[in-house]
Amino acid sequence: MHDDSLPLNTPEPEGRSRRDVLRTAGVAGAGLGLGLGAPGSATAQAAPAAEESAEVGTSPARQGATMIGVPFERRSTVRVGIVGLGNRGGSMIDLFLAMPGVRVVALCDPVKDKTEKAAAKVTAAGQPAPATYIKGDHDYENLCKRGDVDFVYVATPWDWHFEMAKTAMLNGKHVGVECPIALQLDQLWELVNLSERTRRHCMQLENCCYGRNEMRVLRMAHAGKFGRLLHGAGAYNHDLRGLMFDPDYYEGPWRRLWHTRLRGDLYPNHGFGPVANYMDINRGDRVTHISSFGTPSLGLAEYRAANMPASDPSWKETYIESDRTISLVQTAKGRVIRLEHDVSTPHPYSRINQLGGTKGVFEDYPERIYIEPDHTNDAWGDFAAYADWDHWLWKEHANPPGGHGGMDYIMVYRLTQTMRLGLVPDFDVYDAATWTSPVPLSHLSIKAKGAPQQIPDFTRGEWRKERGGVDSEKPAEG
Ligand SMILES: NC(=O)c1ccc[n+]([C@@H]2O[C@H](COP(=O)([O-])OP(=O)(O)OC[C@H]3O[C@@H](n4cnc5c(N)ncnc54)[C@H](O)[C@@H]3O)[C@@H](O)[C@H]2O)c1
Repeated sequence: MHDDSLPLNTPEPEGRSRRDVLRTAGVAGAGLGLGLGAPGSATAQAAPAAEESAEVGTSPARQGATMIGVPFERRSTVRVGIVGLGNRGGSMIDLFLAMPGVRVVALCDPVKDKTEKAAAKVTAAGQPAPATYIKGDHDYENLCKRGDVDFVYVATPWDWHFEMAKTAMLNGKHVGVECPIALQLDQLWELVNLSERTRRHCMQLENCCYGRNEMRVLRMAHAGKFGRLLHGAGAYNHDLRGLMFDPDYYEGPWRRLWHTRLRGDLYPNHGFGPVANYMDINRGDRVTHISSFGTPSLGLAEYRAANMPASDPSWKETYIESDRTISLVQTAKGRVIRLEHDVSTPHPYSRINQLGGTKGVFEDYPERIYIEPDHTNDAWGDFAAYADWDHWLWKEHANPPGGHGGMDYIMVYRLTQTMRLGLVPDFDVYDAATWTSPVPLSHLSIKAKGAPQQIPDFTRGEWRKERGGVDSEKPAEG
C-alpha cells in the first residue's frame, strides 16, 4: 500500500486563529485514512478516501466523561485475559502469573501450539486451566465477552491493536495494549471517546516508563534537580533487520510489512513515554506539534540483497519507511522533545533517554549526568551516585525477574496493584493517544518535507491540571 495520493499538510503560519489551527489538524487527519485496518477487516484494503473524516484530528465533542483521575474498581483478584501469545504475550504471561492476586483466566491466539504452551504455564503455576480461544482471527471477541475477565492484555501485531482495544472496552473490560496502540489519528480519538463512554481504562502498557533509570530521572526531575526543564530526547534505535527477515521469529512478516506502508516513526512510544512523564505532559504541559524528517529507505533492501535467497517472498516488497526518522516535538510550555526511530541499520540499542534543564542534563546509553552544583568541571558524572533517588517500586523490587532489565515486572506489578487496590492508573487513554500520535503525524510531516503537524489535545483542555502519574506514592497497603 502506497499513499502518495494523500493530501499534504502545509506549515502553520504565525498568528492563525484556533479555528484555522483545527482546520489544519483536520486536513492532517484526513491524510491518515491509510486503509490500514486490521487484516481481514473491512478497512484493511480500503482506498484512503474511504476512511477520511471531517472530525479527524479536531477535538470532537466529548461523548462521555473524563477518564482523568478515575480509579479502578477495587478487587481482591484481578482476572486477566491475554490476546496474542507470541514473543511478547508468551513471555509476559510469566509475569502476570508471578503477581500477587492475579489469575490468568483466558488465552487467545489462533496458533494452537502457542496457546497450549501458555495454558500449560497457567496450570504449572497452580491456577485453574484457562479458557482458550484458538478459532481464527476473531475468536478474541469471544474472550472479550466473558463475564470473568477484568482486564484484557493485547500483544498482537499492530494491525489488530485498535480493533482489540475497542472490542475489549465495548464488552466492559479494561484493556492494556502493546505499542503502538493504534495506527491512525481517527482511531486514537475513537479509543479516547470509547474509554470515556464505557468508563473503561484503555492503556498503552509502556514498560519503558518503568525502567530504573527512567523512574530515577523522573523523581529527580520532579524534585527540581535538573532545574526548569527545557528539552528531552527518546528513541527506538534497535537493529531489527535479522529478526524482521527471520521467518520463525515473528508470526508472519507483519512487522517488516509496515516498512512498506508508512514512512514515519513506527514505534515512538518507548522513547516518548518516559520523556513525556519527565515533562508532565497531560499533567501541566502538553505536546502541540511535531515536525519530522526521514532519511532514504535503504537498509532493509540492502540487508535482503546480502542475506535473502532470490526465492524469498520479501523480494516482492518495496520499502518506503525511512531508515532513520528524526522528529522534533514542541510543548505548550516551549520545551522541545527529539524522537528518533531506526530499526533498519546497524547500531547498538539505544532509547537515548535524555533530559535537560537549567541546572543540567542526563543522558542514557551509556548513563551519565551533569547537574549543578554537583558537576562543574565539564566532565560527566556517575549516575550510580544518585541511587537514593530510585522510585519506591525499584527500592522494593531490587532485582525484578523477567525481561528488559526488570521494567516489565515493575510495570505489571504496579498495574495489577492499582487494579487490586482500586487506585487511579499511572497512565490512561490520553497518554496512550499522545504517545502514539507521532506514528501517523510523523508520516504526514515527512511527506510534507517536515511541515509541522498539530498534535491533538486528547484531554480537551484538562492537560493544564497537575496530577500524579508514574511518579506515584507508595500506597499504604501493598
Ligand atoms: N513493550 C515491549 O518491550 C515489546 C517487546 C516486544 C514486542 N512488543 C509488542 O508486542 C506485540 C507483539 O509482538 P511479538 O514480538 O510478540 O510478535 P509475534 O509475531 O511474536 O506475536 C504476535 C502473536 O499474535 C498472534 N495473533 C495474530 N493475530 C491474532 C489475532 N487476530 N488474535 C489473537 N492472536 C493473534 C500471533 O499468532 C502471534 O502469536 C507488538 O505490538 C510488539 O510491538 C512490545
